[in-house]
Amino acid sequence: MLSLHASHAALTAVDTPLLVIFCHAGNGTPVALPEAVRPVDEALHGALSRTLARRDFRGGRDETFVVTGAERGIERALLVGLGKAPSSRAAWRRAGAIAARAAAKLGCGALHAVATEASAEQVEGLIAGLALGAWTYTDLRTPAPEAERRAPVTAATILLADNDASRAAFAFGEALAAGQSVARRLGMMPGNVCTPDTFVDTAHGIAERHGKVHVSVMGRDDMQREGMGSFLCVAQGTPEEPRLVTVEYRGGAEGAAPIVLVGKGLCFDTGGISIKPAPDMEWMKYDMSGAGGVMGAMETIARLALPVNVVGIVGATTNMPSGTAVKPGDVVRASNGKTIEVINTDAEGRLVLADLLVYAKRFNPAVVLDAATLTGAIVFALGHQAVGLFGPDAALVDEVRGAGERCGEPGWPLPVWDEYREQIKSDVADLRNTGGRPAGSITAALFLQEFVDGYPWVHLDVAGTAYSQTDLGWLPKGPTGTPVGTFVEFVRGRAR
Ligand code: BES
Ligand code: MN
Ligand code: ZN
Repeated sequence: MLSLHASHAALTAVDTPLLVIFCHAGNGTPVALPEAVRPVDEALHGALSRTLARRDFRGGRDETFVVTGAERGIERALLVGLGKAPSSRAAWRRAGAIAARAAAKLGCGALHAVATEASAEQVEGLIAGLALGAWTYTDLRTPAPEAERRAPVTAATILLADNDASRAAFAFGEALAAGQSVARRLGMMPGNVCTPDTFVDTAHGIAERHGKVHVSVMGRDDMQREGMGSFLCVAQGTPEEPRLVTVEYRGGAEGAAPIVLVGKGLCFDTGGISIKPAPDMEWMKYDMSGAGGVMGAMETIARLALPVNVVGIVGATTNMPSGTAVKPGDVVRASNGKTIEVINTDAEGRLVLADLLVYAKRFNPAVVLDAATLTGAIVFALGHQAVGLFGPDAALVDEVRGAGERCGEPGWPLPVWDEYREQIKSDVADLRNTGGRPAGSITAALFLQEFVDGYPWVHLDVAGTAYSQTDLGWLPKGPTGTPVGTFVEFVRGRAR
């Protein structure tokens, strides 16, 4: 991960290969240089102010401009547009990511970013963004020859106002960046590298790095004893040991009811016997993004030592067609006793989550949030712009929506009316695992609700938002970090 540093040094004293300066768009007028950057402009003999006066750079969203500087001191300056003022935390996050990606293209290796005039919220966004933009996953690549290689961005120094609010914002931004990189790394890893045991290792890593964390792990036999026939039917097609991993963070009062985060962890989803078509199937390595989000959030929460109790639960396995795989029409029994007719083996996420939601009850949760790449249908409903939010408690759904909005992971509610329940009634069992094409994301949520026993609950469908199949400009193709930000922001809201 990008190493992040805070500095209160005077700009004139800074030595850097790249100084990043964030600017708002002018209102039909030249962009105004942030006050703090004046001395830099002087040191560069007015190169910055001339650039702005010529309107070479207008401060628009995602806009960048490089001004070459001196041999020492500030070697280059990078102007990055924030769009129109006032700029949100999300706008700074986006600009931070743009800056880091531009720095990577230049091959600078390190950068300094000016945030002396930014609010605490904006600093949080900036740091998360720099880390998002600088993040890479190169474990499986042969490095290019030294002479052709551009240095990746490995260090970023944030120039901050010297006060407690900006110090706290820096710490928060760094912790969020660490959690997002945990989630993105798990997402990017292919299915033969990120296996259920990788979640076990990740959980142990969190416990080793931070205090007040306890990990427990269940395998096939343990789940059998708990009667988790729903989760296990998905895992019966693979020889790989399925894992139910629990990460308990106890930062709050003893005995205080925890927030429980639950994640779908399909290390790969072929569809099983109801096999998916070959084109684009490789993207199903991301079907563990809900579980990756839970792990990432636990990393951030434990790193910040938030004064709250949080339990993360992930269910990890791989959905495979095989001689032992579950078949369409099979009936299985979940750990709450309900029977399920498996109509389509590709609707496996809800089968895994069913037993996890029953399991969550034993922690006496204050609230349970689950995240899952649950349905392709959510992309038809909301595209790639919003997380699908579901739950019977409108105020709680709105609390999650607010958390997502603040951190730049927008979500939007869809209805969970009783009328839709007709679609998941079975002729032979208590439930069927698919409700047909209409309202596919809603019937999936209603299926989950059958396993929610009395506690407040919201389901997040992140199938359209946890990863991107295209380069978004500010973010590369691949894992986005969603829903780490939403989880963390929700928990932080409750911890206040
Ligand atoms: N993991 C998929 C959902 C998915 C699809 C995520 C596309 C990301 C992109 C899930 O397990 C699935 O296959 N759902 C089925 C449900 C259907 C069989 C009722 C789907 O969405 O087609
Ligand atoms: Mn599936
Ligand atoms: Zn799936």
